[in-house]
Amino acid sequence: MTAIRRSCLSLVALVPMLAVTAWAQDPAAKPRSLYERLGGYDVIAKIVDDFGPKLSKDPAIAPLVAGLSMDHRMRNRQLVVDLLCEAAGGPCFYIGRTMLSSHQGLGITEDQFKQAGALMVETLDKFKIGEPERSELLGIIGKLRPDIVEKKKDPAPAGTAGAAKYWFA
Ligand code: HEM
Repeated sequence: MTAIRRSCLSLVALVPMLAVTAWAQDPAAKPRSLYERLGGYDVIAKIVDDFGPKLSKDPAIAPLVAGLSMDHRMRNRQLVVDLLCEAAGGPCFYIGRTMLSSHQGLGITEDQFKQAGALMVETLDKFKIGEPERSELLGIIGKLRPDIVEKKKDPAPAGTAGAAKYWFA
């Protein structure tokens, strides 16, 4: 190979590298979503698959989920993946119920919610999710707290006139 040909070939290799570097440094470039920084769908699914069974094993939380069928658990698992994926900016749609309608009546306490948060932190440790992704994900979950933790004076399902209307309440 001649020296000219060799330098032409190295130039051809260099141009895309320079282009990629310039693109990476472009301040106008779109910031990477939490979804991307976490590692995408598979990482979110792994997090949920590690966290979910912990809820069933934790003595403080287990009674709340003890009666769920396998079908119900699988449905919940998929909906939690979709919810976190969408909230993190990923290509998913959450098509489940609201956090209020799906948790209201379970009587989830502040302490149980905090315990669920601690179990999530263990999972994030296990998968070595560092900052700022860890705080961002915990922030997404934390924002749901007011709808998941039972309010003391909340006797009837959301948007209804009163518990007396519901013989099953
Ligand atoms: C102590 C904490 C929690 C407990 C004990 C709990 C328990 C439950 C139970 C029993 C259900 C089934 C309700 C039903 O179908 O009747 C459910 C549904 C669900 N939960 Fe939780 N949950 C907790 C926290 C969370 C958190 C932090 C998230 C979000 C990351 C979440 C997301 C969901 C979703 C998406 C569903 C399914 C909604 C639907 O059916 O459309 N939960 N949860």
